[in-house]
Amino acid sequence: MALFERIMILTGAGLSAESGLSTFRDKGGIWEKHRIEDVATPEAFQRDPERVLTFYNTRRGSHGDVQPNAAHRALARLEAEYPGKVLTVTQNVDPLHEMAGTKNLIHMHGEIAKSLCMHCGSRAPWETDLAVDMVCAACDMSGGIRPDVVWFGEMPYRMGEIYAALADCDLFISIGTSGNVYPAAGFVAEARSAGAHTVELNLEPSSGISMFDEAIHGKATEVVPAYVERLLTT
Ligand code: NAD
Ligand code: APR
Ligand code: ZN
Repeated sequence: MALFERIMILTGAGLSAESGLSTFRDKGGIWEKHRIEDVATPEAFQRDPERVLTFYNTRRGSHGDVQPNAAHRALARLEAEYPGKVLTVTQNVDPLHEMAGTKNLIHMHGEIAKSLCMHCGSRAPWETDLAVDMVCAACDMSGGIRPDVVWFGEMPYRMGEIYAALADCDLFISIGTSGNVYPAAGFVAEARSAGAHTVELNLEPSSGISMFDEAIHGKATEVVPAYVERLLTT
């Protein structure tokens, strides 16, 4: 692994699929059952907050007792074996990376374990179902509590740090993402222009496959531990 000094990992819903969480654009995925414009845009929340909160309360509920899988654990192992050299950026809103032990982590689409007040911007752990008439503990106002999740049309979180890391990485690994949604889908091009070696680990070729130097297709719980083992033993 002495080959690489600054590793950036991008993960998507496919990483959590084998932990039992639905992906978005696979067969049976979330967007087959719900329209994005009904449940995952700021306009949807303005129009019908009840419907949006019900969608996310149900998704939060499905996260109940899910556990990290072998792929999450392999990524935590890579970070532990090379402290200070690995940054994980996830599009996922689940807590499975943290539960597996990953520390240097950016949730660019937010976290379903947190709620956000649109009036004052304060965040709180999301323990009970969110409701429209919920009063914010910080500003005492109601009607503004939403999931701390980035919706279509909103700017993902901590993009400055992400682009700085992309400009400096020498290995970029994309795992479990279809490469359909920007800005994450554009990260591989940024990494390539920084001269990084780019690798896709996914069930099948993503939309961005032509941008990758290397691709290993298969289930994350198989291809990710194998790739990490290879990195750690070369
Ligand atoms: P975008 O407009 O770049 O999204 C492009 C893709 O998202 C499209 O190819 C389509 O697959 C889907 N999409 C977007 N709007 C759609 C619509 N109205 N109907 C059907 N499909 C639609 O994404 P964006 O608007 O720039 O969103 C900003 C960020 O918010 C993105 O990074 C997105 O991933 C994120 N987001 C997060 C969640 C979540 O649940 N975490 C949900 C939605 C969006
Ligand atoms: N192992 C590896 N890859 C898998 C597995 C698995 N077991 N199961 C599915 N995949 C792959 C699929 O082949 C697909 O390419 O994971 C990818 C999942 O793609 P999407 O469902 O589009 O999820 P993602 O790419 O994370 O979506 C990006 O779009 O809706 C928004 O904000 C939402 O963060 C999400 C973003
Ligand atoms: Zn508030």
